[in-house]
Amino acid sequence: MFIDRKFPNTRLRRLRRNTNLIDLVAETTLTQNDLIQPIFIKENLSGIESIESMPNIFRYGVDEALKEIEDITSSGVNSIAVFPVIDPKNKDNKGSEAIKNNNFISTSIEAIKKQFPDIVLIADVALDPYTDHGHDGIIIDGEVDNDETIKLLIEQSLILAESGADIIAPSDMMDGRIGYIRQAFEKNNFKNTILLSYAAKFSSKFYGPFRDAVGSSSNIGNSSKSSYQMSANNKQEALQEVAMDINEGADIVMIKPAMPYLDIIHLIKDSFKIPTFAYQVSGEYSMLKLAISQGWLDSEVMLESLVSIKRAGADAILTYAAKEISKEIQNK
Ligand code: PBG
Repeated sequence: MFIDRKFPNTRLRRLRRNTNLIDLVAETTLTQNDLIQPIFIKENLSGIESIESMPNIFRYGVDEALKEIEDITSSGVNSIAVFPVIDPKNKDNKGSEAIKNNNFISTSIEAIKKQFPDIVLIADVALDPYTDHGHDGIIIDGEVDNDETIKLLIEQSLILAESGADIIAPSDMMDGRIGYIRQAFEKNNFKNTILLSYAAKFSSKFYGPFRDAVGSSSNIGNSSKSSYQMSANNKQEALQEVAMDINEGADIVMIKPAMPYLDIIHLIKDSFKIPTFAYQVSGEYSMLKLAISQGWLDSEVMLESLVSIKRAGADAILTYAAKEISKEIQNK
């Protein structure tokens, strides 16, 4: 198709002569609407705590979280993903706290939605913040048991939907859970609750700082999630994961991590053409932040990384840099 494009008729540099021209012909533009800010809310905390492995990211007590969300919305970001940091005394081997009515995260979600009714609130479904072994499911005979875990995930999802979360995001990677959760939503009058499936979630070492943030690193120890999260070696299998979740009732699918998996984002958006999100995970964020703080990389690498994720095919991106990038876009 480029056969007739010959120099000097074609000089591609003509359209690169200044930034206005460059912007005018831009194929991909990252906007504030593409950004989702994850936020860590900690049980029994008043005030905020820094997270050593995540520069500029904090754990918030509920009151402080509300102030932070005010700041997030005024930066122009209208979507958040909440992650609970559970008091170790409320963790057990079944993650029982996750399915208690009026637990910490559901009361937090109610408080957030009361003050910010229009914010799009995404709530994670998985047991790892609640289990003393740090796995996303319950362990039976030494294995994370798929079908028994699903029973708990259904309960957990119903509690989160009841508390007012707009989007329920199962991040556990059990087979078949989307279908069961969707069925439970239909039965219990949550027909408009959106399911965002972490459909192609890879067993990745890039999640390390997140596990520090939610306090599950010491619980999980050297144990691996490779019996349920995908192998980094696979791409075709991601198509099956996504196809299953769409058939079971997912409205949106997500790929995670993002930048090391741009080929997967592209393949999935191209193949299914449904709303596709990507998660720039904690390790991706911290790695860039550290290099920026050392002066080894210019701070614009953050925006560049997000543009590349969008260019690959992501419709929206969960990123710890959402607020900061949104402020940059606002001030441009
Ligand atoms: C838990 C969950 C994880 C992340 C989001 N939900 C960690 C994991 O699977 O161990 C990772 C996010 C990040 O690294 O930023 N189910």
